[in-house]
Amino acid sequence: MTNNNMIFIANWKMNGEKNHISGVNKTIKFLKKSKNKKNQIIYCPPFTLISSIKNKVKNSIIKVGAQNLSQLNDYGAFTGSINSKLIKSAGGEYVIVGHSEVRNQENDILINKKIHSALKEKLKVILCIGETYKEKKNNKTLSVLKRQITIALKNIKKINNIIFAYEPRWAIGTGKIPKTSELRKNFEDINNIINKLKKNQKYKIIYGGSVNSKNVLELKKINDLKGFLIGSASLSAKNFIDIIKKSTN
Ligand code: 13P
Repeated sequence: MTNNNMIFIANWKMNGEKNHISGVNKTIKFLKKSKNKKNQIIYCPPFTLISSIKNKVKNSIIKVGAQNLSQLNDYGAFTGSINSKLIKSAGGEYVIVGHSEVRNQENDILINKKIHSALKEKLKVILCIGETYKEKKNNKTLSVLKRQITIALKNIKKINNIIFAYEPRWAIGTGKIPKTSELRKNFEDINNIINKLKKNQKYKIIYGGSVNSKNVLELKKINDLKGFLIGSASLSAKNFIDIIKKSTN
């Protein structure tokens, strides 16, 4: 199935010295030549590179986001913290919330507060959900997803500015991806959970965890899958572009 309005998010995690952003030029060039103008491309570098990447991509369709934020909306004496206002002022329009590499130190209630804080400042949220290997083995995936989504969306009226990123913890950085049947079931479950909580609202679900240009077509077999959250493969412009090319023809 060809899909021309997909979302591709590069999560650079704790990588990217200043000279690393030259790779973004290749993506800009590729997008300029590409006939497909409907895809959404978002770079989430470390905080330190948000404004320089924003500067680079200002004449392209590429958007920039952060990888986390403080739940606190107001400025104050919170050494080392970055809130939604600071992300916005650096040029960020998106923010990843609840990434599993951060969930170890956060609970669902804190994640809900962060979403409120981001939406208040009109940042778009990339909400990560997903089970650990142990939870999967113990048939807990559905209940984990239910808990994560229900608490994350508490008192959030509109979800049109939230992208749901299904990232099974065990698939991140391991080279493993879920079987198509498993992924289809989990996407169905996620849809059911969201639709029950927020009737008749539009939203998108993307997938993350060991995405590369070789497995992207297999992953795309899932009808409701609207894009990818890409970690290590996004650090190379060539690999990132290959994923976009392969997925959208
Ligand atoms: P990898 O693509 O390196 O597995 O990372 C996925 C991820 O955590 C993106 O947020």
